[in-house]
Amino acid sequence: MSDAAVPLAVAAFNLPTRFEYGPGVGERAGELVAGLGAKRVLVVTDKGVVGAGVLDTIRKSFEVSGLKVEVYDEIVPNPRDTSVTEGARILKSAACDGVVGLGGGSSMDAAKAIRAMAYAPGRINDYEGFFKFGGLRPPIPLVEIPTTSGTGSEADAWAVITDTHRCYKMGMGDPALAPDVALVDPKLTLDLPPLVTAGTGMDALCHALEVYVARGATPVTDALAIYAVELAARHLGPAVADGHDLEARAGMSLASMIAGMAMSNCDCGIIHSMAESVGSLYDVPHGLAIGAFLPIGAEYNLASRPAKFARLAEALGRDVRGKHGLEAAREVIAALRGLRRNLGVPTPRELGLNPGDFEKLATFSVQNMSTPGNPRAIDETGFVALFKRAYEEHDCS
Ligand SMILES: [Fe+2]
Repeated sequence: MSDAAVPLAVAAFNLPTRFEYGPGVGERAGELVAGLGAKRVLVVTDKGVVGAGVLDTIRKSFEVSGLKVEVYDEIVPNPRDTSVTEGARILKSAACDGVVGLGGGSSMDAAKAIRAMAYAPGRINDYEGFFKFGGLRPPIPLVEIPTTSGTGSEADAWAVITDTHRCYKMGMGDPALAPDVALVDPKLTLDLPPLVTAGTGMDALCHALEVYVARGATPVTDALAIYAVELAARHLGPAVADGHDLEARAGMSLASMIAGMAMSNCDCGIIHSMAESVGSLYDVPHGLAIGAFLPIGAEYNLASRPAKFARLAEALGRDVRGKHGLEAAREVIAALRGLRRNLGVPTPRELGLNPGDFEKLATFSVQNMSTPGNPRAIDETGFVALFKRAYEEHDCS
């Protein structure tokens, strides 16, 4: 059977989240949150979002709808377990009955974990892995409002939180973490700087690409993922070149959201394992680490899904006519390296990796919850070799 053929297997698809999206929909935030029954909301965000004035826009909408607003704006990239504990404490002491995650993936993931930990015993560190909350959804609503186009966190039931004691990014997936509503307004992304747009956009592209070839892929996740790749291929360059190109921003908001929907039903693979390991050790932004490892991770998987990679090459805008099998599949690598170079995203070496850390990075990567879903198996030795290859990689290779 070709790897692009319809699998004769039973599958399921589930999304507990409602989606409201399009330019200007953020102005309805207050009405929407009030409609969910909340009277006092905790907004989980970061100083960058506050400084850019995005919080003011959303807060105005809340106040018009008669909502009281508490703000916890201490979230940092690669959000920490300690912030989750503090956010849950504030939520309880202020008697909030709704949570809003406003920002990139860090704030949205933290908002998921804060809502969950306001009702679950212990610490967030006790919930690493799959279904550790038992699928029990907290009794208050969570609305996620992304201000970047990349993580897809608004659409999925995952959170990645840093264990500050182990310096390790813990992954957790459970329906209890999924937001009730995702409010996706591309206008909120218009002022993102080019490099943030590039990194977060590479992340959205990577979610779609990794899910498309993953072990857990289904016909439904395939349909979502391949469309998300096409959207990102068409709109990421223009969004980086001109942040105020609303059509490009809307295309990237959709790409991120749709890739997130796919990812909610199928995990990613080793590109995420490697990037999250690097994020644990070096605290680099997730999207830039993803962009750095996209080509090498895809190359590792080529032979396991040649027909799907050939389809991805087409979705990325490559002409594969007259090419067959691995020759067509390899076009993906040229497309990804070209994109990385054109967008100014660093290579793995440019991220500042220290070869002395490769064994530790490999240990983290093999433990990462995305590794089992990768289409080609890999062990710790394989990861060390891959980090070495990535370190030697050049965009012109
Ligand atoms: Fe990601």
